[in-house]
Amino acid sequence: MSEADRTMPLSRASLARIEGRNWLIEGAPRDEIPAEGVEPIVAMRIINQEIVLDGIPERNLATFVTTWMEPEAQQVIAENLHRNFIDHAEYPETAEIEQRCIRMLAKLYHAPGETTGARTQGSSEAIMLGALSLKWKWRERREAAGKPTDKPNLVFGGDVHVVWEKFCRYFDVEPRIVPLQPGKYVIGPADVEPHVDENTIGVAAVLGTTFTGHSDDIGGINDLLVAIRDERGLDVPLHIDAASGGFVWPFIYPDTAWDFRLEQVRSINVSGHKFGMVYPGIGWLIFREKADLAEDLVFYENYLGKTDATFTLNFSTGSAMVLAQYYNLIRFGHDGYTFVMEVMKKNSQYLGGRLAEVGPFEIVGGDAEQLPVVAFRIADDADVPYDEFDIAWQVAAERGWMLPAYTMPKNADDVKMLRALVKLNLSRELVGTLADDIAQACETLEKKGGASKHERKKVKTGVGY
Ligand SMILES: Cc1ncc(COP(=O)(O)O)c(C=O)c1O
Repeated sequence: MSEADRTMPLSRASLARIEGRNWLIEGAPRDEIPAEGVEPIVAMRIINQEIVLDGIPERNLATFVTTWMEPEAQQVIAENLHRNFIDHAEYPETAEIEQRCIRMLAKLYHAPGETTGARTQGSSEAIMLGALSLKWKWRERREAAGKPTDKPNLVFGGDVHVVWEKFCRYFDVEPRIVPLQPGKYVIGPADVEPHVDENTIGVAAVLGTTFTGHSDDIGGINDLLVAIRDERGLDVPLHIDAASGGFVWPFIYPDTAWDFRLEQVRSINVSGHKFGMVYPGIGWLIFREKADLAEDLVFYENYLGKTDATFTLNFSTGSAMVLAQYYNLIRFGHDGYTFVMEVMKKNSQYLGGRLAEVGPFEIVGGDAEQLPVVAFRIADDADVPYDEFDIAWQVAAERGWMLPAYTMPKNADDVKMLRALVKLNLSRELVGTLADDIAQACETLEKKGGASKHERKKVKTGVGY
């Protein structure tokens, strides 16, 4: 229930209106548009009463997506919900603000000069567009060389988000997926090398995986692609999926080169709504230089008032999150983002340390560069009557935490994992409470011999996004 709703006095008049519609005893309209409407307050209460059964976003340890923004940012969002972003001619200042964000991100990622990019709905749309550009550019090169263009392939690891396989299926590209192994949850040059050939449109590497928060060996993969270019004459571009890492690495690992400092990196996607700290949905696609955007992907139209170039998959969309992204960039600045990321990193390290103390846990890759997450599992030598899924169930039942349990991708799918995102709303106090709650859940499970059959059926599985 929203704050406004909770504090709104339920006047006699509004009660009468509510009673007039019988919504309390008839249930909500479900299958067809009701013949008659209701008062605004009734519509609001019907929605709010149902939504209270959803999980509380602050207790959602599964999501990478922002669950808290400052009141001033919320005001910017609320005041701009009615502005269609695509109406560039009518809202030129909003369009200019999008361009500023693109320039700021390109600079953050060390683009060598003037470049281009786009605001998208999230990283999924940015990845579809970036990968389409890889496909189009590969086709151009093949056609220019008089070679066939019917068997494009894309190389990536089993540690990628599902959107990469989606792209391959939707746009008819062969996915060449490097499988993971138990204990090895990212990929490097030796994994990529056997899969690259003249039909490879590109390689995708992840900065901050969905599964454990670590990074592929991007420097190593770049060096491999440079060698392939120099020795075999194959120019294979590298796209970096920095959905989460693109707002983390530049601030807490500034010396690690994963971006346009590496010569084969041609495009990067990042989700503004993850560690860019904006509510969903905002993502960004940034090219190394203008020439990396395939010209055929750009459409020119003039029916909104002036000739405009677009290359996004959707058309109409909100402006509010673009403005909110700009708000964050100028509000926090480089030092503010660095501070926030340091805070999250410290709190996630604290959580990892506490979990190792209080439970039978192995923390996965705790010393490596990582997103502010703790990926952990029950240690192989622990003799306990419960598993990771039981813990997810118990800690939800006892304290309402949404802690995702999942199995790792193919070839490592015997490995079960738990993962907690440590975002800004998880202060040190709450992190401590979370560790205690997980310890308590383990104690309960120890006493009852694991979750019951009935409880296990109810466990939600999946990595959460
Ligand atoms: C590595 C990675 N790539 C892509 C995506 C998809 O991003 P979005 O939800 O912004 O579309 C995610 C989402 O979690 C992700 O973690």
